[in-house]
Formats: sequence, C-alpha cells, structure tokens
Amino acid sequence: MEIIILPTPDHVACYGADLCEALIRAKPTAVLGLATGSTPLALYNELIKRYQQQRLSFSQIITFNLDEYVGISANHHQSYHYYMKTRLFDFIDINPANTHIPCGDVENVYHAAICYEQQIQNKGGIDLQLLGIGRNGHIGFNEPTSSLNSITRVKALTRATQADNQRFFDAIEQQPTHAITMGIKTILQAKQLLLLATGVNKARAVKAMIEGPVCAMCPASCLQLHQYATIVLDQQAASELTMRDYYQFAKQASDTFSTQYVDLGQ
Ligand code: F6R
Repeated sequence: MEIIILPTPDHVACYGADLCEALIRAKPTAVLGLATGSTPLALYNELIKRYQQQRLSFSQIITFNLDEYVGISANHHQSYHYYMKTRLFDFIDINPANTHIPCGDVENVYHAAICYEQQIQNKGGIDLQLLGIGRNGHIGFNEPTSSLNSITRVKALTRATQADNQRFFDAIEQQPTHAITMGIKTILQAKQLLLLATGVNKARAVKAMIEGPVCAMCPASCLQLHQYATIVLDQQAASELTMRDYYQFAKQASDTFSTQYVDLGQ
C-alpha cells in the first residue's frame, strides 16, 4: 500500500485527479471504477475542470460504479444514477452507453447483481477503482462482516450506515435499507485501487484499514492484500495513524528514487 498524506481535502482531490489523468492519458479506453458520497465530489470537480481545459477526454472511457440503493428509481434525487449524472457525467464528454451503475429498482435485484458482475468481467475488468471509506470501515456497501471473497450482490445496510445517510432522505420510509454493491473480491480484482479519505470522522476507520489486521470487521483492510493500492489522506483522516512519520518518509524517499530512476534511464 502506498499511503499519501496531504495538507487539505483539495490536495487529496488533485492528487486523485492526477492519478486518473495519468491513466486516461496512457489508456484512453480505460475502465474506471467510480464511487459516490461526499468524498469524491472535489475530485469529480477537478476532472470536470481538466476536461473544460481540454486536458482530458472521456470519450472512450468506460465506467462502473461501485453500488446503488435497492428500491429507488434512477431518477430519484438520492439515487447514485442521479448523483453521477448531476455531479460528473453531464459535464464531461463521456458516452452514456459506456457508463454502468447497478439497477436497484428492477424486479429481481439478485439477478441484476449477478449480471453486473458479469458485465465488469466482459469489459476485461477495472483498470482503476476509486473508493471512499465509511466510518465503520465499509467500502462500496460491503459492511463489516462482509466476506472478503464476495462478488457483486445485494447487501443489507447497517444501522450506522443508515443513520449516516438519513440526512439525505426526506422521510424515514423512503430510506433504503439494502444496496447492490460490488463485492470485496470484485474490488480486489481491479488492477489499481485509489482510496480517498478526508476529515477527522474517518480517522478511526483509516487506522483500522491501514494498521489493523485484515479482517471482515473492517472491509477496507482488504486493501492490504492488493499490489497497487494508493490511499490518499488529508491530515485529519491520517491523525490516528501510529506510523504516520514513516509513511511521509517513505513517500519522500520513493519520490527521490523515482527521479533517480528517470535520470538513470536517460
Ligand atoms: C459510495 C460508497 C461508500 C462511500 C462511503 C464514504 O459509492 O461506496 O462506500 O464511499 O460511505 O462516503 P462519504 O464519502 O460520503 O463519506
């Protein structure tokens, strides 16, 4: 795991956008895994800005979102379909036919989940998966105790996640209790993982993810098993890390070495 600790949430967003930009430049047909929630919003704004500056084109990019609520329609203002359309897709040159989000308002959501997993495989898998982290350590909607070997499926949301989301819904009866989510195995199969976390309310989950044991009680700890996982944190989200100084030292050292490597290659 590469742990990057930056001063502010804006720095986190720019760093994340740099990694996305590097991938899109190297592979204009890349498959991007996307997340929703408050954390990636600044990154999406940065990508929109770079598109408007004609630095980036998404015309051949394929996307797969991590998850969607069960039981609310795509045009509901709290659906992840609506979120992606109004926060990113409407502002870039992506082909809507190349964007994928699980369908949570179909008759058979279990079947929809299986088909979604298949669609990801059919496109050759995900090149870079963007992730946020829940206060309880979830990634996607893989709540604590999710199987580390899980694939896309229907998951019940914990009370803690429902409470975190309550503010977005007008009435309690409208609030979803289940979601379709990529599984932990699905996420680990992505070639590169990029998890962003900002704010002090993520500090405990971040510590468990990076410095705790790999365990189902902290689904994000599975990132320890991935060969190319980059975790980008602001100072607050990193505030409970025991080995914080080491991560900063390791990053500076790797920057130096990569410069030397480039120089040696000339
Ligand atoms: C969203 C998702 C969730 C969020 C997590 C953090 O697609 O899969 O795992 O990333 O709940 O949400 P925020 O960023 O709102 O704190």
